[in-house]
Amino acid sequence: MRYRLHQWLAGVTGGAAMRAAGGCRLAILCAVFAMGCAIGADPLRQPEPRAPDVHFEPTPMRVVQQMLWLADVGSADVVYDLGCGDGRIVVTAARRFGARGVCVDIDPQRIAESRLNARKAGVADRVRFVNEDLFSTDIREATVVMLFLSPSLNLKLRPRLLRELRPGTRIVSHWHDMDDWKPEHTAYAGSGGRDRPIYLWTVPAR
Ligand SMILES: C[S@@+](CC[C@H](N)C(=O)[O-])C[C@H]1O[C@@H](n2cnc3c(N)ncnc32)[C@H](O)[C@@H]1O
Repeated sequence: MRYRLHQWLAGVTGGAAMRAAGGCRLAILCAVFAMGCAIGADPLRQPEPRAPDVHFEPTPMRVVQQMLWLADVGSADVVYDLGCGDGRIVVTAARRFGARGVCVDIDPQRIAESRLNARKAGVADRVRFVNEDLFSTDIREATVVMLFLSPSLNLKLRPRLLRELRPGTRIVSHWHDMDDWKPEHTAYAGSGGRDRPIYLWTVPAR
């Protein structure tokens, strides 16, 4: 009898303790939410999308071809275009060279255009679309990285490319170089009456 009474008491007090713990968790959650609202930050809201660092200017198709040749793209490659615009580089990599592509752009309109272009070219299953800032997107899977940005963006990106890409990954930039990181090859593609430089680097062993 004493044992039963003991068990009953333990059940009652244990249940009360669990209810108290549950209530406590709820109270903490409410407090965090209220604090977020009080300082003007909605804790459930996504971060504001930010404006592109450079505006959209498509690489002429003749130059796209040369960039893919210079990187020696093949069917085993995963080609990332960081700031992919209308997706022409990754779509061509998939359609003409049998590669897989990843199209990264901060502007949702560009991503929508790229999706449409990939679908029209019949390669939507070989291209992945990422509406993200190129400075925070995961690039470790790339075997080839394509760039058409600006001199300062190339320089800002350079430490990440060297740190996160695997040795042997090829990087091709249309028009803009990487300052004192000298390219292995420089090619020129004529388009619109101008000779457009294309630079190639390979990520060295660490
Ligand atoms: C000069 S266009 C190049 C387009 C494409 N790569 C090509 O060569 O045709 C640059 C692209 O980078 C995108 N962009 C700019 N800043 C970006 C950022 N921080 N993250 C991702 N994309 C960005 C722009 O929206 C634009 O589509």
